Amino acid sequence: MEIIRVRGLDVGYGTTVILRGLDFDVLKGRITVIVGESGSGKSSLMKTMIGLLPPLRGEVSLAGERIDFSSERDLHKLYRRIGVLYQTGALLNSLTLFENIALPIRMHHRDWPREKTAGRVRDMLERVGLHEHDDKYPFELSGGMRKRAALARAMVLDPDLIFCDEPSSGLDPITSSGLDELLNELRTAHGVTFVVVTHELRSIARIADQILVIRDEAILFAGEYADIPACPDPYIQAFFLRKAEP
Ligand SMILES: Nc1ncnc2c1ncn2[C@@H]1O[C@H](COP(=O)(O)OP(=O)(O)OP(=O)(O)O)[C@@H](O)[C@H]1O
Ligand SMILES: [Mg+2]
Repeated sequence: MEIIRVRGLDVGYGTTVILRGLDFDVLKGRITVIVGESGSGKSSLMKTMIGLLPPLRGEVSLAGERIDFSSERDLHKLYRRIGVLYQTGALLNSLTLFENIALPIRMHHRDWPREKTAGRVRDMLERVGLHEHDDKYPFELSGGMRKRAALARAMVLDPDLIFCDEPSSGLDPITSSGLDELLNELRTAHGVTFVVVTHELRSIARIADQILVIRDEAILFAGEYADIPACPDPYIQAFFLRKAEP
């Protein structure tokens, strides 16, 4: 069953259209991977799905309800339900790791007592293996630690839908595979739905249930990982059959 339904969607900025006529579903409890060249519009598409960029045309529905992008109420409902790991990480350098992770709770659950917030933040830090670094500032962390911290923040409101824009770019293979394991575990054990932008073939092979390939302003391929070998398109073959870096 789908949790997000996209129909006739044009994505772009002002008069510039980046993507045209997209139709696809994001399946509940599965990991959907978005693939495409740099500048093809992956982050822009994600911005539309998380309510930051209104569609130029077409519609996006969440759990069967069409999102009205001009409605504060609809957008708040969306923000409350999703977690986002931004391409740039987007942790605040003036706050400790603990405070960064606590921020969404302070925004959305003002009534939570201090101890409940602290417990929740500690759980999240533990889950991503950063519990011993809660008083560090983001600039004191390595790139991989910052990515894991951003994932902890994306998870802290216990969302059933998490968006990750290139979560493993710039990470070494071992850290990257640890992150994939975490995503797989959240999907399998907690039923979390993921939309993940990534270029890493090994990562795609490990996590993808469904793949969307963006090419020339449209979706060139939508399907399961297992369908790729049978896809006759030469671009798809060239993309997925390039050897995973050793
Ligand atoms: N805020 C913006 N205003 C106008 N144009 C934008 C804006 N953000 C992105 N674009 C343009 O939209 C196009 C797609 O950019 P986008 O960031 O979505 O690509 P991407 O597929 O995520 O690329 P990458 O793999 O490098 O992250 C680019 O041509 C970019 O210049
Ligand atoms: Mg991007």
